[in-house]
Amino acid sequence: MPENHQLHELIRRRWSPRIYNDAEVEPWKLRTLFEAAGWAASCFGEEPWRFIVASRADETQFDRLLGLLVEKNQDWAQHAGALAISFGKKTFSHNGAPDRFGIHDTGTAFGQLSLQAVALGLQVHGMGGFDAARTRVEFGVPDDFEVGAAFAIGYLNGDNAPPEGRKRKPLGEIVFSGGWGKAAAF
Ligand SMILES: Cc1cc2nc3c(=O)[nH]c(=O)nc-3n(C[C@H](O)[C@H](O)[C@H](O)COP(=O)(O)O)c2cc1C
Repeated sequence: MPENHQLHELIRRRWSPRIYNDAEVEPWKLRTLFEAAGWAASCFGEEPWRFIVASRADETQFDRLLGLLVEKNQDWAQHAGALAISFGKKTFSHNGAPDRFGIHDTGTAFGQLSLQAVALGLQVHGMGGFDAARTRVEFGVPDDFEVGAAFAIGYLNGDNAPPEGRKRKPLGEIVFSGGWGKAAAF
């Protein structure tokens, strides 16, 4: 877990597990997760995010999403309680102009959903390893939407706490002040 105890507990306890336990996620929890996503901020209040989700309770739809994942992800994601894929709208609805923040804001929504999951005793694991082109065809995704990330949602086999030894880049490498590459001094 991150050492800084000033970080919110939800941030400290979030991680990307590969040890889901085949349990279903209650529909009210799934609804709450996507509601958390929908409360994200977005440029011009566009709410550009869209999601396709399948609970393992619906085997046909769950298998459809599972089949889009690369094999390495299928190995562990098959045990999740639900699978989903995010999409971000590429244009603003009010004037049709390109919205370069569409996928950015969808990422914010995904982050909120991930933290809400921790609050509900779940963990979310994002995946880039899936067939985005096939996703478009399979689900009739309009051209105006960027395919985002796939993700697994579920309960864990064992401890929900993150494993020891996770590391992050030092702040000096990611936060600059006064010029690119100049570590912010705080
Ligand atoms: C957009 C995105 C794509 C990812 N793709 C994969 C993936 O295909 N397979 C996988 O096992 N993990 C994937 N991950 C998980 C990352 O490897 C993980 O978030 C990162 O190593 C940091 O670990 P943590 O989430 O436990 O802090 C992905 C995460 C994100 C956000």
